[in-house]
Amino acid sequence: MTTPIITAHLGNPDARTMTGYQALGGYQSLRKALKMQRKDIVAEVKTSNLRGRGGAGFPTGIKWGFISPDATDVVLVCNADESEPGTCKDRELIYWMPHQLIEGCLITAYALKAEKVFIYIRGEMMREYKVLMQAVQEATQAGFIGDNVLGSDTKIDLIVHRGAGAYICGEETALLNSIEGRRGEPRIKPPFPAVVGVFQKPTVVNNTETLSNIPHIIEHGGQWFADLGTERSGGLRIVCVSGHVNKPGIYEIPMTMTFRELIEDTCDGVWKNNQIKAVIPGGSSMPPLDVSELDVPIEFDALMSDERIKPVEVKPGVPFDLGGGRKLRTMAGSGGIVVMDHTTDVVSVCSRIIDFYHHESCGQCTPCREGTGWLSKVGKRLARGEGKPGDVDLLSTIAQGIAGNTICALGDAAAWPVLGFITKFREDFENKINNQPKRVS
Ligand SMILES: Cc1cc2nc3c(=O)[nH]c(=O)nc-3n(C[C@H](O)[C@H](O)[C@H](O)COP(=O)(O)O)c2cc1C
Ligand code: SF4
Repeated sequence: MTTPIITAHLGNPDARTMTGYQALGGYQSLRKALKMQRKDIVAEVKTSNLRGRGGAGFPTGIKWGFISPDATDVVLVCNADESEPGTCKDRELIYWMPHQLIEGCLITAYALKAEKVFIYIRGEMMREYKVLMQAVQEATQAGFIGDNVLGSDTKIDLIVHRGAGAYICGEETALLNSIEGRRGEPRIKPPFPAVVGVFQKPTVVNNTETLSNIPHIIEHGGQWFADLGTERSGGLRIVCVSGHVNKPGIYEIPMTMTFRELIEDTCDGVWKNNQIKAVIPGGSSMPPLDVSELDVPIEFDALMSDERIKPVEVKPGVPFDLGGGRKLRTMAGSGGIVVMDHTTDVVSVCSRIIDFYHHESCGQCTPCREGTGWLSKVGKRLARGEGKPGDVDLLSTIAQGIAGNTICALGDAAAWPVLGFITKFREDFENKINNQPKRVS
């Protein structure tokens, strides 16, 4: 059994308070970090192989390295928007361990020479917001936040900013616009946030889980964290398992654990002893796995094809080439794993996912704004059993027209699951058309 790192004290209300957190050794890593050279902290995080837990798995130390050493007015933004369907880990980290996150933010801010930190929290998470505000107040009173952090000449302000319930504001540049008081619309990149971020300042955006790991990396060293993981992915990761399993929940697991081990051992198997039909591996934007693909580790590289998901390779009527070996052409994403048993109507699931992205499209780019609407229309009639011959290829063609052709990855997030569901479960889609009751008069 793996010893959890950042979830070790979830469920313990004492760990939520300043006194309780410090009794567990909390804020010792901040004290240690303030005595270190900034570049050495960045080097430890690079050594740790920590990869961003917001969805893309980008190496955190490398991202920090994009901030020029000469940069001034650097800003750190913690992404706590957490709106990807199937994902519910960041809110638990905030609710039970707010000081762990604050400590991670303060160490990161010090390493990047950032005097301002924003924690952008999803508007609906009122319970977590209240806990976080209480913790920020305690940390300010204790001298961890403010003009002279722990009596040093380091200044760090921390502002908690509530979102207003738009999924797109989780996309980092839409989030920056939202902090600025603008519409939550993604920006065209480049320039990247490290160069022109919030209020035109160099900015690093990191996920809540990513930053919660930082105090532990500083306490035990980057190599310790790297050794817990695989060659290119350090540490453990949190997965949120929902759907047809006996023990759904949030688990902090080793990167080497396979989907089958997670479902059968950790989650006590599929309910009612049913068979598995499909598994969404990391939030609803990720193409699903079928039952033959569950022996792959829940790790960033193991799930990805070398060439990522190339829409050009998906031709109407031609099966989506999944690549060889264990490269499954999907992604580990945000850790939201949804297990569906053999009774699941995957066409309806696909249609429901499309509707979410259609609803959340900010409307800036035509392929996403119009394409998700078309996907929704065709997906719905297929799900209702009213599909027309050629609808499956039509869905695939529309999805290909969206993927890779938009300002932000929401377009891909809408297109990829469609392509994935059609590839793995084409027969289910075709059956919905072919098994329609014939008109008798
Ligand atoms: C449409 C969309 C929604 C996103 N939502 C979130 C989110 O809710 N939380 C999050 O951490 N990252 C989200 N991301 C990813 C962020 O843009 C960004 O990559 C991430 O916060 C970086 O943190 P990391 O490097 O620690 O993973 C989203 C991306 C897209 C395209
Ligand atoms: S891809 Fe969709 S959500 Fe992203 S910027 Fe374009 S219209 Fe907006």
